[in-house]
Amino acid sequence: MTSKPMSVLITGANRGLGLEMVRQMLETQGPLSLLFACCRDPEGPKAEALQALAKTHKNTIKVIHMDTADRSSIKRSAQQVGSLLGEKGLNLIINNAAILTHSTVANSTPEDMASAFNTNVIGPMSVIQEFLPFLRAAAKDSGMPGMSCRKAAVVSISSTLGSIQVTPQRYDGFMAVPYRVSKAALNMLNACAAAELQKEEILCTLLHPGWVRTDMGGANASIDAQESVQGMLQLINSMTEKHNGALLDYKGQSIPW
Ligand SMILES: NC(=O)c1ccc[n+]([C@@H]2O[C@H](COP(=O)([O-])OP(=O)(O)OC[C@H]3O[C@@H](n4cnc5c(N)ncnc54)[C@H](OP(=O)(O)O)[C@@H]3O)[C@@H](O)[C@H]2O)c1
Repeated sequence: MTSKPMSVLITGANRGLGLEMVRQMLETQGPLSLLFACCRDPEGPKAEALQALAKTHKNTIKVIHMDTADRSSIKRSAQQVGSLLGEKGLNLIINNAAILTHSTVANSTPEDMASAFNTNVIGPMSVIQEFLPFLRAAAKDSGMPGMSCRKAAVVSISSTLGSIQVTPQRYDGFMAVPYRVSKAALNMLNACAAAELQKEEILCTLLHPGWVRTDMGGANASIDAQESVQGMLQLINSMTEKHNGALLDYKGQSIPW
């Protein structure tokens, strides 16, 4: 059974997986009432494809300025989104924006680590905090029992690179230490959020999109953004309380912590 959200917010929505999520949510999800597509430079060249989509879906897509590495920017976007949302609140947040730099334990700088934490961990935490009143409103308004992304949910995009268990076998292929550490921390953030928000029936879960051909994944990655997002949206639409606190890949397979 699928249960599609009516209002959605996506961070890092101007390119890569974020942009593909916007595209597929519009083309295959429907009917969505509001899609808040957040990015840090809505007027810049990297947001042209998103702006073009927004032009053809004026009533649904709202392009929102949000730099997830800047708490005050997240606060401002929450005010803007709040002014556009009705009493029904916000059903689904997708914490998608992230950065990746390649460095080892031996040569990662404190700045590399701080910057990965700022965008990949503090960003998603701040988004949950600032938008929580709207998720709560959606959970209360829904009148539906249990948990789902149609009701109120946070889906954070993680990575197998954050898996502590598989690191000994797979470390050499992809060092990216600050990114790995930040995704492991994002996983813990989600575990805490899932435990804390369970009583309010707000679902918090993690998805690994696969190794995807985007700017981050590179040209040699195994799948394209369309396949990854198709899998993730199918999962998102079928999530229940069983998925609270889970870490799954885009095919629905569990990933070791
Ligand atoms: N591609 C893969 O193989 C892969 C594998 C595992 C997990 N993931 C995860 O999937 C998600 C999306 O990755 P992707 O492959 O689509 O990456 P991408 O092509 O590099 O896109 C990253 C997105 O994040 C945005 N972003 C970065 N820093 C931001 C900030 N401070 N504020 C707002 N937006 C910011 C970028 O915006 P700008 O255009 O402004 O830079 C861009 O929209 C990430 O969480 C990533 O860790 C990807």
